[in-house]
Amino acid sequence: MAVIALVGNKGGAGKTTLAINLATGLAHRAAEPTIILDADPQGSSLQWRAFAESETAPGVIAAQADLERLYARRRRDYRHIVIDCPPSVHAPQTLAALRLCDVALIPVQPSPLDLWATVHIERAVTQAREVNPDLRAWLVINQLEPRTKLSRLIRQALDELDLPAAQTAVRRRAAYRASVLEGRTVLDLGRRGAEAAEEINNLISEVIAS
Ligand SMILES: Nc1ncnc2c1ncn2[C@@H]1O[C@H](COP(=O)(O)OP(=O)(O)OP(=O)(O)O)[C@@H](O)[C@H]1O
Ligand SMILES: [Mg+2]
Repeated sequence: MAVIALVGNKGGAGKTTLAINLATGLAHRAAEPTIILDADPQGSSLQWRAFAESETAPGVIAAQADLERLYARRRRDYRHIVIDCPPSVHAPQTLAALRLCDVALIPVQPSPLDLWATVHIERAVTQAREVNPDLRAWLVINQLEPRTKLSRLIRQALDELDLPAAQTAVRRRAAYRASVLEGRTVLDLGRRGAEAAEEINNLISEVIAS
């Protein structure tokens, strides 16, 4: 069983996008029972699920008010639990998620301002490890535009940070936005989403299933 939390201190970094795509990718792997706990009061994962036409899309449960209790109640029913957190590392839901998850993934846009902001997350991860010593945490570059000078510089800047960064970066792709509009994920788009699906599966292999 793996519990994966999408956390961060910036709005719009890609927590919900990665939560729904990773949960779907995990669910596809040998049809493993997977659920999303939406711990963000914005309820974006819940909204996505309300659109979803596919009956095989992972379920989403509202967990804004009582994440720990819901987790304790549901943990035995699922192989994977993905927690979509609010955009604040000080939010009670984020702190609770860091205390109970196996893997924390922190999406960051490839911009210096966003990388600097990860220092708050580093501290929160260090604190969470006092009660959750096996917590693994990774930065995940999201919305990467490859072959730009910035994208090369960002890789170097990542080496300066204490949190490790996943080798797999997620690129800026229309498929991530379009699929949500259709209540789907990049894994359900066939050839249109093939490249995006590959990077989601690579991310799963690298940081979750490893
Ligand atoms: N790799 C990507 N390629 C293209 N668009 C993306 C990508 N990742 C995220 N987006 C878009 O960026 C916007 C913000 O993403 P998302 O809602 O997942 O961020 P978030 O961290 O959950 O935001 P919040 O902090 O408000 O919950 C959305 O419009 C989403 O579709
Ligand atoms: Mg979100």
